[in-house]
Amino acid sequence: MKIMVVGGGGREHAIIRKLKENKEIEVIYALPGNAGMAEDAVLVPEIGAKDIEKQVKFATEKGIDFAVVAPDDPLAMGAVDALNAVGIPCFGPNATAARIESSKVFAKDLMKKYGIPTAKYEVFTESDKALAYLENAPIPTVIKADGLALGKGVIIAMTREDAMTAVKEMMQDKVFGESGSRIVIEEFLEGPEVSVLSFTDGKTVVPMISSMDHKRAHDNDEGLNTGGMGTIAPNPYYTDAVAERCMNEIFLPTIRAMEKEGCPFKGCLYFGLMITGDGPKVIEYNCRFGDPETQVVLPLLRSDLYTIMRATENGTLAETKVEFAKESCCCVIMASKGYPEKYEKGFAIEMEPAVAPYVYVAGVANKDGKLVTNGGRVLGVTATAKTLEEAIATAYDRVKSVHFENAYYRSDIGQKALRANKES
Ligand code: AMP
Ligand code: GLY
Repeated sequence: MKIMVVGGGGREHAIIRKLKENKEIEVIYALPGNAGMAEDAVLVPEIGAKDIEKQVKFATEKGIDFAVVAPDDPLAMGAVDALNAVGIPCFGPNATAARIESSKVFAKDLMKKYGIPTAKYEVFTESDKALAYLENAPIPTVIKADGLALGKGVIIAMTREDAMTAVKEMMQDKVFGESGSRIVIEEFLEGPEVSVLSFTDGKTVVPMISSMDHKRAHDNDEGLNTGGMGTIAPNPYYTDAVAERCMNEIFLPTIRAMEKEGCPFKGCLYFGLMITGDGPKVIEYNCRFGDPETQVVLPLLRSDLYTIMRATENGTLAETKVEFAKESCCCVIMASKGYPEKYEKGFAIEMEPAVAPYVYVAGVANKDGKLVTNGGRVLGVTATAKTLEEAIATAYDRVKSVHFENAYYRSDIGQKALRANKES
């Protein structure tokens, strides 16, 4: 069997490592992949994640049996539609279903129509109307650009003035380009956040083990928002009672709503949840595996990932085994100092061979046969253990065996979850 995985970050590295456990797979191509995953996949650096035409040509020429499209951009652009059109089965939603992430307005309207709990909201296409609304809106408030904005299109405004500035920047100055020509202004919610990735074939939904992201750049959740500085799984706030409510009030209603709207969702649907005093609510949907959530969820998966992915595509998920270890996992992202703003790159990365199997590589390049830093989030160091405490300690221990100049990482990944464990 020949598989291709579209994407080139730590998430894709984790997917590839897990797929490799299936011995029927002869080869996995990574388009473009990255230099740090050369031992796990055949890299195709000349085909980028958004080069859909080239992906289709490559898949046809190589006789690819199954494609996994991991990042949001190609999904929103219709990579799955294009690959399906030439007869290649895929893991991932088509473009109409991917709107659940690529359009915040689509997602919010879907939730309103089907009574799925989320923050109250208004949609605006004209800046003066948005500004007039803000004159009397409850503060704090949350401003979201409608389209994809590299995870940066969400502004939590603690004052009316900040809210007005955000609207002006998005709608008038177009800081997020066309993504900001339509915006959502929504109610500010409070409570712990939980990420739940799920497998779905459009009818059945199977939640994976829950996780917790750490989005801010610095310890104690200070600093700017990033793509994610570390994760742990499972998330202590996702109790059995919360899980049951989520299934009945959010997961199943969402899958049924997508089917009713004529765009059944297949692949990984990511529920970004907030556990408010009023129950769990949806903060956002993603149409894909999260990064770095995948790096803590897939190491705990005890069933065959390839079999599950096929089942999401051919509608047999209800009969497919999806089991997770009753253990914990922690991932610490090692970033370039200065990320998510300015940072230098090109520094050599050294890693002890014993830790390499636990490292998922993202922002790197090959320079004269050596691995060098080439991005903000460079790699994720993980550990799995019986307890969360042990997983955190081992992950940080392994971090000590990875070296590059200007390395920066948070020192408190998982501490909030440990405190929550102790309180319960
Ligand atoms: P997103 O890019 O949609 O994941 O949003 C980034 C972060 O903003 C989320 O992880 C939340 O921490 C926060 N956020 C988004 N929407 C709200 C909301 N309605 N109330 C409070 N915080 C929010
Ligand atoms: N870690 C959040 C995301 O993948 O969107």
